[in-house]
Amino acid sequence: MGKKKNKKNKKSKFPKEPLFLDRNESQTGPCPQVYKFLKKVDLDHLSWYSRDFQKGIKSALSKRIADDFGFDEKHVLLSYGSEDLLKQIIHCYVNPGDKVLIPREAWWYYKKVASERGGENVEYPMKKGVSDGVPYYLYDVDLMLDIYRQRDPKVVVIASPNNPTGNKIEPDALKRFLDAAKDTITMIDEAYWGFGSTDNSYVKPFIDQYPNLVICRTFSKFFALAGFRIGFAFAGRNLDVLINFTTRYLGYNRVSEKLGEIALDNIKWYLKAGKQYEKDKKMMYRELGRIKGFVPFKSYANFILVDLPLEIRPGLKQYLTERNLLIKFLDEEAFRSEARISLGTHKQNKLLVDTIKKYCEEINWK
Ligand SMILES: Cc1ncc(COP(=O)(O)O)c(C=O)c1O
Repeated sequence: MGKKKNKKNKKSKFPKEPLFLDRNESQTGPCPQVYKFLKKVDLDHLSWYSRDFQKGIKSALSKRIADDFGFDEKHVLLSYGSEDLLKQIIHCYVNPGDKVLIPREAWWYYKKVASERGGENVEYPMKKGVSDGVPYYLYDVDLMLDIYRQRDPKVVVIASPNNPTGNKIEPDALKRFLDAAKDTITMIDEAYWGFGSTDNSYVKPFIDQYPNLVICRTFSKFFALAGFRIGFAFAGRNLDVLINFTTRYLGYNRVSEKLGEIALDNIKWYLKAGKQYEKDKKMMYRELGRIKGFVPFKSYANFILVDLPLEIRPGLKQYLTERNLLIKFLDEEAFRSEARISLGTHKQNKLLVDTIKKYCEEINWK
């Protein structure tokens, strides 16, 4: 009887419901001030439009972001997340037959969005290297430029950090690309900004220098507000069509905009949470990298990409699924043997790594 109970207790370390470490969402949640606001949310935020336009601004949030970065508010766009920004940029500028240059190793929606306008994808591949002794993907700017010159795209998409590879593009590499592609609309998708690097210093100089550049961010990832669908972007001075296209004079979502402001006010809380992510990523590179055939890649996001031996993939997938630990086993042209692991809380990350190790022990994988 006692033994049975023990066995039951042992099992309970696994979540009762599926734990989605396959979606790049936050398991930590936003800062406490967000919950505090929501508990007392008032009629004004729920039932009224924003009245910010009466103050001569688009919104308190875009004004706040513009002031923080030293822009005129006109250059700050709001959106329902960065998915919405990507869609609006493509729908604004791409006509049937136009080409969109995207990474080959990319978020699935990059591959779909051009088709919504009858556009055509042109892909550029990344290359593999090493950073701080850890395998790392890199933007191959020379190759990107070759493809750019040959194919003459209308819009270029660069993700920094990129999903699922986790690498970012360094400002000097980006500069080299933009100098050669000045006349083309280039979108930098920084949805995963904040994990491992909180550098903002390049934003203003780049937007000032490159009039066709748009840098997109979101409150979904680092600020853990995906459910509220709010994002923002900085747009260069040639992008008036996009600026007008994205403007919502009655505001976006009043609660979301307010939560965005609260998140920015509490950046210190997020920086502290970010430190734990960094520690856990290092733990994962180390622990997973010790398993035969496992290659974790360094990441500046809230996930890591791990190359896995194909032989153990089906068994590992089943073992983790039975224990309610879901990670993303990629199966697409660019990734046949890799999995993407979204980070959870420290406890969840540890449980996942221990469970993977346990599986390898059980099948005697050495
Ligand atoms: C690279 C990338 N960009 C943008 C998004 C969309 O994020 P959101 O619309 O929540 O800002 C995602 C979502 O996972 C993503 O992986």
